[in-house]
Amino acid sequence: MSFYKYHVFFCTNQRPDQQMCCENAGASKLRAYAKARIKALGLSGEGEIRINTSGCLDRCSEGPVLVVYPEDTWYTFVDEQDIEEIIQEHLLKGRVVKRLLIK
Ligand code: FES
Repeated sequence: MSFYKYHVFFCTNQRPDQQMCCENAGASKLRAYAKARIKALGLSGEGEIRINTSGCLDRCSEGPVLVVYPEDTWYTFVDEQDIEEIIQEHLLKGRVVKRLLIK
């Protein structure tokens, strides 16, 4: 059994030039939103959900990106509404949010 039910990694990498990168699309701010929401829902800690920061996941052109393990489900997102939908549907109900999937 996994230590966490879901382990979510947000790429917050910032590339040094003006190339596409997750941080330039607000990744850190939205990672912080996700972390605060999971804590507010009482879902952080062992056996629950962990929100982590990641370096570049090498999918920069599809970003910003996050990945949910153990399923290896990749999402892109734009705003807090997208993150909330991932929390409510995927992390709470186990239902993939198809509209935000990246293949
Ligand atoms: S900067 Fe996020 S995947 Fe590369």
